[in-house]
Amino acid sequence: MLALTLAGALMALAPLASAQVKPSGPVWMPPPATEGLVAATSNSSGPNKQWTTALGNALYFYDAQRSGNLSLGTYGNRVPWRNTTLLNDGSDWGLDLSGGFHDAGDYIKCTFPFGFTMFALSWGALSFGPGFDASNQTPYMDATLRWGFDWLIKAHPSNDTLFVQVGNTTLDNNYWGGDLHIPEPRPAFPVNRTHPGTDVWTSTAAAFAMGAMAYDGGLWNTSKSALAPTSLKDANYSATLLQHAKTLYEVANTTTKANFFASIPEVGEAYVSYGWNDTMATAALALAAATNDSAYYLDAYNTYVEYNMTAYRGSWCWEGRIPALYVLFVEVATARPNLAAGAGLANNLTGWQTEAEAYFDYIVAGNNGAGGLTPPHQLPGGTTPAGLVYYSPYSDNNTLQPVIALVHLLFRYAPLASSTSKAATYLAFANSQLDYILGKNPMKRVYMVGLHPNSLQNPSSAPASGGQDVLDVRNDPKTEAYVIYGAIPGGPLRSDKFWDFRDDWVETEPALDYSSSFPAIAAYKIATGADDPYYVHLEAGTAVNPKGVPCDNALPCEPKKKLKGGAIAGIVVGSVVGAALIGAVAWLIIRRRRASGYDESPAVTK
Ligand SMILES: *[C@@H]1O[C@H](CO)[C@@H](O)[C@H](O)[C@H]1NC(C)=O
Ligand SMILES: *[C@@H]1O[C@H](CO)[C@@H](O)[C@H](O)[C@H]1NC(C)=O
Ligand SMILES: *[C@@H]1O[C@H](CO)[C@@H](O)[C@H](O)[C@H]1NC(C)=O
Ligand SMILES: *[C@@H]1O[C@H](CO)[C@@H](O)[C@H](O)[C@H]1NC(C)=O
Ligand SMILES: *[C@@H]1O[C@H](CO)[C@@H](O)[C@H](O)[C@H]1NC(C)=O
Ligand SMILES: *[C@@H]1O[C@H](CO)[C@@H](O)[C@H](O)[C@H]1NC(C)=O
Ligand SMILES: *[C@@H]1O[C@H](CO)[C@@H](O)[C@H](O)[C@H]1NC(C)=O
Ligand SMILES: *[C@@H]1O[C@H](CO)[C@@H](O)[C@H](O)[C@H]1NC(C)=O
Ligand SMILES: *[C@@H]1O[C@H](CO)[C@@H](O)[C@H](O)[C@H]1NC(C)=O
Ligand SMILES: *[C@@H]1O[C@H](CO)[C@@H](O)[C@H](O)[C@H]1NC(C)=O
Ligand SMILES: *[C@@H]1O[C@H](CO)[C@@H](O)[C@H](O)[C@H]1NC(C)=O
Ligand SMILES: *[C@@H]1O[C@H](CO)[C@@H](O)[C@H](O)[C@H]1NC(C)=O
Repeated sequence: MLALTLAGALMALAPLASAQVKPSGPVWMPPPATEGLVAATSNSSGPNKQWTTALGNALYFYDAQRSGNLSLGTYGNRVPWRNTTLLNDGSDWGLDLSGGFHDAGDYIKCTFPFGFTMFALSWGALSFGPGFDASNQTPYMDATLRWGFDWLIKAHPSNDTLFVQVGNTTLDNNYWGGDLHIPEPRPAFPVNRTHPGTDVWTSTAAAFAMGAMAYDGGLWNTSKSALAPTSLKDANYSATLLQHAKTLYEVANTTTKANFFASIPEVGEAYVSYGWNDTMATAALALAAATNDSAYYLDAYNTYVEYNMTAYRGSWCWEGRIPALYVLFVEVATARPNLAAGAGLANNLTGWQTEAEAYFDYIVAGNNGAGGLTPPHQLPGGTTPAGLVYYSPYSDNNTLQPVIALVHLLFRYAPLASSTSKAATYLAFANSQLDYILGKNPMKRVYMVGLHPNSLQNPSSAPASGGQDVLDVRNDPKTEAYVIYGAIPGGPLRSDKFWDFRDDWVETEPALDYSSSFPAIAAYKIATGADDPYYVHLEAGTAVNPKGVPCDNALPCEPKKKLKGGAIAGIVVGSVVGAALIGAVAWLIIRRRRASGYDESPAVTK
């Protein structure tokens, strides 16, 4: 009741006109990293300034990743070093597929992981609205969601056609340079009825359905603090997103089930998904919530049971969506208790809490990584020596993404936990992981660019680097040309060590999916009046630059025996697109440098 009353009261204040949210004052820009040294809590009243910066920067990163005509949108381009680009995307199909976001440190556009990103961003907007509103970041959240959904709408030109990739992975990964000379042609690859992609259809449907809820007025009353930003409400946009979600789901539900990479082998070298059952169940459940139609709920329930999703213990990531499903089932049982009954099922809130808590308790106890439905999650996991959750081997290519996603899940789940002591445990655990990411780690590193002087300096981003030399990515130029504020990198290695090397994509490359739960986390912190983030306690210049060499999938210690150009295709399943070829390039660099003894010199970073 309280939740509904609060929602009602806030909605009454919302402007009647519903359209894209414009910044009310000057366009927000990231402050210099030195601002991260200034403690804010003690003498500020409104929203915490540091969390506001962290949120603002996290959203600014998505502006830096924009593709297409950067003059579009409510406030145009706020990233001074980015240029309009790739307006011909889609021309091979007579379509306009310009827009959207570049996937990572490169320029390709990939729909499957992007569905994960848009789902996480939308889910965060749906529940932590007061944080976005209080910090005046709603216009940027809105702009980010629309920039993404507007492109997904273009990528879904007819019921069964969904473009899953734009750009040639080989060409893209062989290019290291700015955004004015990105190699073309950039072929676009669709799935359709004859070449089905159940996974990508439903991944995208889940994102559209969650987006529809974020824009439908904030009635996701899972707890009293769970509301969408009031100013985000746009019934027309919500209806448009919902229509795309329904259509994609219906196509997926009525065609032969297949994974997109099996239907379009040419795109297999970027992102290979392992199955469609988790995305199918997530889409069905999100659609049930968005439509209040129990038919979707029944589908979600049946898929969950049929594929025995109870035992998944891997990460929440683009290739594994089940942890979000655990939480979403609890949210649905709380906010839409009628849905189960409509499907002839019990509204099993306690049962869904048991499912979610079995997962969280396992991870909080340090067991993460073992078990699960996805082959790469089969090995025992645990944590790094300093306590960062480590899913093995998924985390080998990106330690931070699954942890940020976990923190998001824990913050949203804690108020729904079966007991207050569990809630407290989950919050404490989430905060400890977040502290690590924001500087409480053996490297004294802040793993977000431009937030603090100890932030990494050399993100592996082709446009931000200003470099041109694909064979000397690390040193050309010596100093990163532009600050890509808000970018979250792959992160430290399993040893907790972090080398700030631009050519080490494992550690320093940012990506859309890595950051996708951060806005939710920062908005949650603002909404709950949290203390300063950990990094304000770090002194400038204390970041540790480890000795030795990284030894990871980007910079292996031993040179690979043989590297056949085409042979890499098909085995690459790294989260970071460009893995294979940047890896290959890195390998070439290493090989060249091994010959000159470079590897023996100590690591140097700024
Ligand atoms: C807090 O007060 C100190 C001392 O007056 C000042 O230097 C600092 O800028 C203030 N911080 C904020 C966030 O207002
Ligand atoms: C980009 O969009 C702006 C605003 O609509 C428009 O004036 C401009 O012509 C577009 N630029 C290109 C290259 O299409
Ligand atoms: C991508 O580009 C490479 C190198 O030019 C070419 O060999 C390959 O056929 C292209 N792949 C596709 C799917 O267009
Ligand atoms: C954008 O264009 C300007 C020249 O107008 C150039 O200096 C800058 O490097 C370009 N940005 C990127 C990311 O290539
Ligand atoms: C269906 O998708 C396949 C694979 O991308 C493509 O080759 C084919 O042209 C598409 N069919 C239609 C009718 O667009
Ligand atoms: C597309 O899907 C919608 C709803 O899912 C349906 O009403 C419509 O008939 C479909 N169109 C075609 C051409 O199949
Ligand atoms: C999906 O397909 C199944 C099997 O045909 C059907 O029972 C179910 O009702 C469909 N779901 C929806 C929402 O139409
Ligand atoms: C589901 O998975 C769990 C854990 O692996 C297992 O114990 C159980 O037997 C499975 N249930 C079914 C119906 O396969
Ligand atoms: C949310 O609203 C629904 C529909 O009014 C209601 O049945 C449910 O109990 C509410 N949940 C909470 C937590 O208030
Ligand atoms: C509720 O969920 C629990 C845990 O998943 C399950 O064991 C139980 O059978 C469910 N009860 C009903 C009535 O569906
Ligand atoms: C279900 O999806 C998961 C995650 O994508 C995958 O690992 C698993 O193999 C799939 N299961 C089946 C039976 O297809
Ligand atoms: C990590 O990336 C490497 C190189 O691209 C790839 O071979 C490997 O399968 C990836 N590992 C995981 C767990 O995704």
